[in-house]
Amino acid sequence: MARITGEMKWVIGEAKVFAVATASKDGELNVVPIAFGKVLGEEEILLVDNFMKKTMENLKTNPRIAVSVWKAGDSKGYQFKGDVRIETSGRNFEDGVKMVKAKEPKLSPKAAVIVTVKSIYSITPGPDAGKLLS
Ligand SMILES: Cc1cc2nc3c(=O)[nH]c(=O)nc-3n(C[C@H](O)[C@H](O)[C@H](O)COP(=O)(O)O)c2cc1C
Repeated sequence: MARITGEMKWVIGEAKVFAVATASKDGELNVVPIAFGKVLGEEEILLVDNFMKKTMENLKTNPRIAVSVWKAGDSKGYQFKGDVRIETSGRNFEDGVKMVKAKEPKLSPKAAVIVTVKSIYSITPGPDAGKLLS
């Protein structure tokens, strides 16, 4: 398990969009932008499924994910890799619904995608780009 630090939480909070990569069981790759996401505690990230199709199909058969986030102004960023569980009720799901409804009341979220973070890399340009942090 990897630990999401305070600085990483800040970058995630500032990020406009998460780049979310999944793969089918056969290794067919998929990457999409996701706007609705947040940190849950020190080891988990919540992403909200509003429109996911290939992403969700992939996660159901291959529950692994890579998520990159960055702060545009100073190019600071992180890549989180981990395992996923899907929740369609309960506290995390309601948390996601609340987040979406606050900005887009007409949307009806379908699921909460909970990422248990297993490894964290720097994507900040420079000598430490690609470095395993945790
Ligand atoms: C800027 C932007 C933000 C988006 N945010 C979300 C989001 O928060 N949740 C979501 O389910 N889809 C979101 N989408 C839609 C997905 O990127 C994508 O279209 C959807 O997952 C279907 O693609 P897929 O079949 O590859 O999963 C967003 C798209 C854009 C362009």
